[in-house]
Amino acid sequence: MKVNILGIESSCDDTSAAIVSDGILLSNVIASQAVHSAYGGVVPELASRAHQQNIIPVVDQAIKQSGLGKDEITAVAFTRGPGLLGSLLVGTSFAKGFALAGNIPMIEVNHLQGHVLSQFVHEQGKDVKNPTFPFLTLLVSGGHTQIILVKDYFDMEIIGTTIDDAAGEAFDKCAKVMGLGYPGGPIIDKHAHQGNHDAYQFARPNIKGLDFSFSGLKTSFLYTLRDAMVDDPDYIEHHIDDLCASLQYTIVSILIDKLAKAVKQTGIRQITIGGGVAANSELRDTLTEVARRRGWTVFIPERKYTTDNAAMIAGAGYYKYLRGEFASMDLAPDARLKF
Ligand code: KG4
Ligand code: ZN
Repeated sequence: MKVNILGIESSCDDTSAAIVSDGILLSNVIASQAVHSAYGGVVPELASRAHQQNIIPVVDQAIKQSGLGKDEITAVAFTRGPGLLGSLLVGTSFAKGFALAGNIPMIEVNHLQGHVLSQFVHEQGKDVKNPTFPFLTLLVSGGHTQIILVKDYFDMEIIGTTIDDAAGEAFDKCAKVMGLGYPGGPIIDKHAHQGNHDAYQFARPNIKGLDFSFSGLKTSFLYTLRDAMVDDPDYIEHHIDDLCASLQYTIVSILIDKLAKAVKQTGIRQITIGGGVAANSELRDTLTEVARRRGWTVFIPERKYTTDNAAMIAGAGYYKYLRGEFASMDLAPDARLKF
């Protein structure tokens, strides 16, 4: 009999449900929350309310698209953390209700481990190669910027992390300053295509080891705009493409430099990327080019599996199911869950 896992993701501002059957993805439904764009960032209270509205139709659609019946679900996997507590509560409570009603086990998944393991989830008929252990993952999202040493499915070590802002936050905050919408990353990515990345030199951090910092870059970006706007109030509009290209180039360089350092330090040359910023076209292109030059093997997931999705939660849940690792009914979500 096949192992059919329903995955639920609700850690931030995407409500998602997916079905993975024996490790193969059958469906992945995502409802993004447009409500936050007016605020330039995620508003936690609005996020949890939107999750409550979305969760039932999203799960319903995921099950329908999979072609399975509700009674064919073997177990339900859910994101326990890290994330926004109110948002996590919606997914966790739903998972408990679903498990109880169907008399099936629950599986807790760490959101970050889900991102890492998204590399192992594939759609039917797609012949995609998996990395072998050990490998390094550059996890870059709105909340996290980490280099993770992945020794096995659930044996991971964070060997580098941000000491202030996440890379996605740097994109989003700078976009906000320029009056672009939220999330800012994709908008900056678009403008950057038409710009000159050497037009501005923004501050680069000088942090020892494998840790990252983006707050100095953000400040230097802000000061550049503030000074330039004294003479030209429409400066941003006039230079938007060059500003975006230079900012993006700086962020991507910071990420790739640390990754190169991590490869040197660990001797591991297999690299995967994940998290929303992994959708960035310059990061994808630069990583591919650097890998070719330096003899690294890189695994770059399709864009739809880099941002938050339940396919990665169902996939991670499948590997936990095979190990017999189940969650108890009294488990609470944990906004700061570690691994
Ligand atoms: O993984 P994700 O969907 O949610 C979190 O767990 O944070 O990542 C969202 C982040 C946002 O900061 C967004 O601006 C960024 O990913 N992002 C991008 C791109 N697409 C999404 N950043 C740069 N370039 C992109 N194309
Ligand atoms: Zn995420």
